[in-house]
This record gives sequence, C-alpha cells and structure tokens, in this order.
Amino acid sequence: MTNLAPNEKYTNSAIRPGEPDPYPQKPVGEYITDVVSNNWVNDEYKLMVLKAPEKALTAYAGQFFHLLCPSPDGAEVWMRRPMSVYNVDKSAGQIEFLYKCEGRGTKGMGTLEAGDTFNVSGPLGIGFNLDPAWKNIVVLGRGVGLATLAPLSLMAAENGVGVTAILSARKTELVMSEDLFKGIGAATIKVVDTDGSSDVSNVEKILEGLILNGKADAFFTCGSSRLLKLMQTLGKSHGVPGQVAMEQIMVCGFGACYVCMRTFEVDGAQTLRRVCREGPVFNMQEAVGW
Ligand code: FES
Repeated sequence: MTNLAPNEKYTNSAIRPGEPDPYPQKPVGEYITDVVSNNWVNDEYKLMVLKAPEKALTAYAGQFFHLLCPSPDGAEVWMRRPMSVYNVDKSAGQIEFLYKCEGRGTKGMGTLEAGDTFNVSGPLGIGFNLDPAWKNIVVLGRGVGLATLAPLSLMAAENGVGVTAILSARKTELVMSEDLFKGIGAATIKVVDTDGSSDVSNVEKILEGLILNGKADAFFTCGSSRLLKLMQTLGKSHGVPGQVAMEQIMVCGFGACYVCMRTFEVDGAQTLRRVCREGPVFNMQEAVGW
C-alpha cells in the first residue's frame, strides 16, 4: 500500500502529473495537480495557482472544479468543494482559483503551499455563453461572485465585446479583481456598503443609465440574491437577456445525487434542476432567488 498525502485520499482513479490520461475521449478528469502558489490577495481571499494537465485547461468561464480540500484541523472533510475557475492560463499550463477562506474546506485549501499536490475533478457544468450579436455587456457581482464573472469578462474582451463591471463589496478593500477587469479594458464601477453606494436603489440607477446609453445588451450576475432580483426586474422591463451563475452545496458534482436541486420558473411553471449538471449558469429570468 502506498502512503498518500492527506489530500490524496480516495484518489485511486486520479491522474498524477506525467501519467498518461486513460480516458482521453472524456471531457472531465480527476487530477493530482501541483500547487504553484497560494497567496493572500487581501484579508479574506486567497489566489491559488495550479499546474494542471491539458484537459483541465479546457475549462471556460462559469465552469467549476470539484476540489478535494485537505482538512484544516485534522478532522475529516467529507465532501469535495465546488469552485468556479477564476483563470485558465493555457500557455503556462495553469488554472487559478480565487476563494474566500471561510468554511472548513476553503480553510483547508488555504493551508496548501507551493510544491504541495491538490486533487481536483473537472472541468464540470455548463458555463456562460456569449451571443455574437451582443456588443456590450454588464457584469454585476458581489464578493467572491466577482471571481466567477472575471473569466467571463476576459472571454468577452477576447471576442471584442465591451464590458462594464459593477463590483460590489462590503468595503473598498474587499472589492475583488478590479485590476483584472481594468486590464481587459472593462469600465469598472465600485459600489460598497460603507458609503451606501451598493444599495439596490443606487445600483438600479447605474444599470438604467447603462441601458439608456446602449451599454447593456446582456446582463450577467453572481453572488447576491438581491442583485439577481434587480437585474431580473430591469431585464424583464427593458428586454435585456441575462445569465446568472448559481452557488449551491454539492456532493457528487456531476449530476448523480440530486443534492444540488433548485427551483426554476420556466414558462410560468416551477421546475427543479441540478445546479451542477444543468448549470451552474442559467437563464437569469428562470432562476428563483435564494
Ligand atoms: Fe450531485 Fe448535483 S451535486 S447532482
């Protein structure tokens, strides 16, 4: 029996660095990746960079990986943690996750250091899509939701689509990824709780202005139920389509256990969908807030 590191448990099927992929035709894999770095970006969030095999690098905005986080305290961490991909650097062969260290899984993840290994499964789920007719989009995210919207903004910029990013947080120091949004040429608007600018009424004014100025061919959001509701209302009244990345507790992550079911409203009727399999990105108008 081989000695496995704590974060390599239950990984008989995982592909380790340098090993050939036994299922090259399958779009998803379980990998033992190498931690390149795992550093704090502010008081609450860390950025993890992993060296990952080629198939993992096919992940696109809105998709997620299921992470086998090590324990932060010696006790068991029973389930994997779903986490949307923050960035894929194909030339460096790396994937990145921006995450808040708050639960046991993410606190355990925060203990990993450069040179450690990390078991990840993915890429999983259905991510964002861009209609070629859209010339300008608005992304509105709060907290770690911005980590999900950042790669979408990159994808939009690569396709010549203008982005206005409304970045919401409790306080200015916790506004996530402003540099990344600016780096891709997005117009950024920070709204925070400390000065009241994150109030729904103020964000509503900002969104209405963007609609009026032709800057909102589509809406995208993640991370806040009240902001989702706002975008749904404005999207409906102004005919702006939209997509939302839903957050949900998961167990299997690939559609087998039905733990991640949520209610959606489609053509006036309520229906249940699996966030991991039919999402995590959904038509904004069909999502029911939480
Ligand atoms: Fe198992 Fe979604 S987590 S079906």
